[in-house]
Amino acid sequence: MTTNLFSPIQIGTLELPHRIAMAPLTRSRAGQPGNIPQEMNVEYYRQRAGAALIITEATQISQQGQGYAWTPGIHSAEQIAGWRKVSEAVHDAGGRIFLQLWHVGRVSHQSLQENGALPVAPSAIAAPGKTFIVDADGKGAWADVPVPQELTINGIAAIVADYVQAARNAIAAGMDGVEIHAGNAYLIDSFINSNSNKRSDRYGGNVTNRARFLLEVVDAVTAAIGPERTGVRLTPMGRFMGMGDETPLETWGYIAHALNSRNLAYLHLVEPAIVGTVKDHTHDPMWDEVIRLMRKNYNGTLILAGGYDFETANKALAARRADIIAFGRPFISNPDLPERFRQNAPLTPADPATFFGGTAVGYTDYSVFDSKGGVVA
Ligand SMILES: Cc1cc2nc3c(=O)[nH]c(=O)nc-3n(C[C@H](O)[C@H](O)[C@H](O)COP(=O)(O)O)c2cc1C
Repeated sequence: MTTNLFSPIQIGTLELPHRIAMAPLTRSRAGQPGNIPQEMNVEYYRQRAGAALIITEATQISQQGQGYAWTPGIHSAEQIAGWRKVSEAVHDAGGRIFLQLWHVGRVSHQSLQENGALPVAPSAIAAPGKTFIVDADGKGAWADVPVPQELTINGIAAIVADYVQAARNAIAAGMDGVEIHAGNAYLIDSFINSNSNKRSDRYGGNVTNRARFLLEVVDAVTAAIGPERTGVRLTPMGRFMGMGDETPLETWGYIAHALNSRNLAYLHLVEPAIVGTVKDHTHDPMWDEVIRLMRKNYNGTLILAGGYDFETANKALAARRADIIAFGRPFISNPDLPERFRQNAPLTPADPATFFGGTAVGYTDYSVFDSKGGVVA
């Protein structure tokens, strides 16, 4: 029988009833002060518990790892307690949930760092972009990112230890596992890509060296919580925030091969046509080639995300391009997305104006579908 979105699948020790996962989505609504998940966040995730797997919004592993205002962390006791309420609500509603672990690296600002320190990166090269901070009046504002400080070898080891502690904290918070965010120009991705990593030590230069930090994080986290509870997300050939690599097929092919031996719960890739949150409508045949190569080099469960709808997702599963499809924006505005797909019901479009920050509006007030009454609250 052809695999489709409703075929069950097992990842690690979890039985997923179907293959419609919720992609990680930053919503910038953590409780303040302290970046602590609050009641509104519990409700948001509870509403989406019908997903095969929820992957939470990116969650900073340390204060140093924060790059945007109002994003949640997993490094304080209060944050762990807040996330525990989220995981319990999702489990009570029959769902499964992994927490996405995040260190933004150079995509940060002194105002978000302890003692106003400079953000850290493999090399002292500024990202061509802005980040979102709180200004002197307590309002959100976009700010240029500064030239970061180059990490020392000890600094790198300290961050690996922060990933381990954060993974343990996620498990203490009742999560089924963690997803290591290694994409979108953040710290791990900026080590991988040759144009943001100009180091001459064992963390820079050839592909083996540029992938070393990723693999150290993966090995340390899997040793702490188990490979069956660990996933990795990559954005191969991503161009967000100035990412780029001189030898993409070699780099991403090597990484898929190296991760294959780690027995992870899954590998999660974003289609290269997606840049951050925006689709690039040009088409580079190498984007397909890199996904095919990674699929070939990685024998475990592969999740793909990026611009999918019901039809294209089913096609990708039937063609064995992926095993699971993660949906981002459709899950923002359709909390019952799997049920809508099942009933062939119309989808509610998402409103980008309420993606980041704000209240329950555009967050927990999207309706569910009822076959008799249409869309109901
Ligand atoms: C509002 C918003 C927030 C996002 N936050 C994250 C994030 O925290 N971590 C991450 O890996 N990707 C993040 N993404 C990317 C999505 O996970 C997904 O890859 C992207 O939206 C493409 O999928 P879609 O077309 O189904 O929305 C975000 C995207 C959007 C629209």
